[in-house]
Amino acid sequence: MRNAFRILAPAVCVLAVGLLDLLPADSQARAEPDELAQLGLPPDAGRDEVEAYCGACHSLKLVVQQGLSRADWEEVLVWMIEEQEMEPLEPVEHELVIDYLAKHVSVEVMRQKRKR
Ligand code: HEC
Repeated sequence: MRNAFRILAPAVCVLAVGLLDLLPADSQARAEPDELAQLGLPPDAGRDEVEAYCGACHSLKLVVQQGLSRADWEEVLVWMIEEQEMEPLEPVEHELVIDYLAKHVSVEVMRQKRKR
């Protein structure tokens, strides 16, 4: 019995590790960029920041359903910080987030989406 265990145990371990290895790789492939792109956040500079900061309190859907000008996004950020207890961003990150939103979640993009 003991000998059988000694032979089988490593085999079971290898199998288990093998399975664990497969699972995250698979779900990662599915969860990554495309899900965000489908939501309306295509890969570009600033997307990681938007995902991290703006998805922290609410769904990113709340963000992508807007479609605002740069000035309006600035106002949304000020509102988030002053009224919704968002931590102010470092200037560099603030710019990245605003640039990204103004470019990809803009009035024009919204108009294009409605046409489809
Ligand atoms: C600390 C939490 C917090 C963070 C971080 C945060 N928000 Fe919000 N946000 C809120 C809350 C709370 C509401 C709901 C406010 C309400 O409707 O009264 C909200 C609502 C919104 C809305 C909806 C406004 C509307 O007219 O319905 C938008 C757009 C938005 N947030 C954008 C952002 C963006 C962009 C970021 C990242 C730069 C961000 N939020 C980060 C808390 C946060």
